[in-house]
Amino acid sequence: MKITNICCIGAGYVGGPTMAIIAQKCPSITVTVVDINEKRIAAWNDEDVNKIPIYEPGLSDIVKEARGRNLFFSTEVDKEIDKADMIFISVNTPTKTYGMGKGMAADLKYIELCARQIARIAKTDKIVVEKSTLPVRTAQALKDILENTGNGVKFQILSNPEFLAEGTAVEDLNNPDRVLIGGDLDTTEGRDAMQALVDIYSNWIPSIQILTSNIWSSELSKLTANAFLAQRVSSINAMSELCEKTGADVNEVAKAVGMDSRIGSKFLQSSVGFGGSCFQKDILNLVYIAKSYGLNEVADYWEQVILMNDHQKRRFAAKIVQTLFNTVSGKKIAMLGWAFKKDTNDTRESAAIYVADYLLNEQAEVVIYDPKVTEEQIFADLEYLGNRSDSENRRLVTVVKSAKEACNEAHAVALLTEWDEFKDLNWNQIYDNMLKPAFLFDGRRLLNKTDLEEIGFDVFVIGS
Ligand code: UDX
Ligand code: ADP
Repeated sequence: MKITNICCIGAGYVGGPTMAIIAQKCPSITVTVVDINEKRIAAWNDEDVNKIPIYEPGLSDIVKEARGRNLFFSTEVDKEIDKADMIFISVNTPTKTYGMGKGMAADLKYIELCARQIARIAKTDKIVVEKSTLPVRTAQALKDILENTGNGVKFQILSNPEFLAEGTAVEDLNNPDRVLIGGDLDTTEGRDAMQALVDIYSNWIPSIQILTSNIWSSELSKLTANAFLAQRVSSINAMSELCEKTGADVNEVAKAVGMDSRIGSKFLQSSVGFGGSCFQKDILNLVYIAKSYGLNEVADYWEQVILMNDHQKRRFAAKIVQTLFNTVSGKKIAMLGWAFKKDTNDTRESAAIYVADYLLNEQAEVVIYDPKVTEEQIFADLEYLGNRSDSENRRLVTVVKSAKEACNEAHAVALLTEWDEFKDLNWNQIYDNMLKPAFLFDGRRLLNKTDLEEIGFDVFVIGS
């Protein structure tokens, strides 16, 4: 089976970069990314490649190379579904905000809508690939919808979870640790479909790194990988609090522990808490699945990773209030960074949102600067919490265009995202322009504490 036309539904953080790389590496395949969001598609098609809607180092160059050649962005969803031999589903699967499983289960309505749309439009056989992170056994739901179309079209469903991390998406897609393809191993059609996807990845990935498995293993592997990664962050963050009490230093602990080859050194960077669209959602999902099978101990075990993360965000914010003589009411707090990590403009579940919310509840005046996140996004994130009206948020929050401006006349600076540019700020000048005592709270362990103390700052570093 040779694939010549790919359609990807969803032009977001997963669909956009993944399809750009597939198009770049496979010039003989036409790749079209479709989305119902016209503004997003228009941005992907912007003549100025620096205006594509997703900031990822290296991505705009790849889009520049492939766009218009074999990479296209379109809102004509039906037309592209019809043309494609292989359809990737990369739509969002947020945590449910209503009804059964509220706050835990993944909301699959967007996935289901896609499946129904494919079922309605398809006139020829197609391979449908789940790319979005999904609860285990979603493939079965897709299969049920697609197989009951009654128009004789045959579908093969594959699970191909995305392991890229934002901020390093291009590198992760170019050199993945592994690619995982789950499918129906019991039938020739299933194995052929899997081979068709293996052939695509084989254009740039050594075959030893392309794994195939049954579909449920593939779906569960994605949730498990994210749960393990998040667990490491919560584990080191739990230790950060103990370090602060005992006089140990969390980086020294992490280094010593990470040099044990059985443990390894990655994902031991203590922080104000993990964010991003995946970790919390996937663990909640895992907890929900475990509970639905009556596995309460399994569910409680994983839920603790989230509880620890919530605690870390809350205690960082509480530390600011306590240090500022137990009140921040009417005080100006500068927040440096809003994205959930550096090198992305994604803010989903960013710790900064929750820290800001806490400070706003304490009536602080919050001034925010992030190098890549728009003002519109920051206010949308605060409004989404539903704790205050947009006008109330706009009364208390100001978004500015530089770190220097944010810190001007502030009582305290809180560093929330580890952007490189924060390391090189003129901290002497910032200190001079702040109110005294000038407090600095480093939630990322990015800055040099001794240097800042020499300037005169009163510094708190998470885990020290
Ligand atoms: C994650 C997975 O890494 C990726 O494989 C999956 O496809 C999607 O989810 P992502 O959320 O983009 O990727 O970023 P990641 O680098 O995993 O960071 C997640 C959060 O954990 C960030 O807020 C980051 O700052 C935080 N983190 C990470 C730490 O606080 N400490 C660490 O040591 C590592
Ligand atoms: P992710 O991080 O998983 O890529 P995003 O929210 O960045 O998530 O992207 C998902 C995209 O999927 C959004 O741009 C959204 O408009 C799009 N989308 C959701 N449902 C549909 C649909 N039925 N048809 C086309 N696009 C859709």
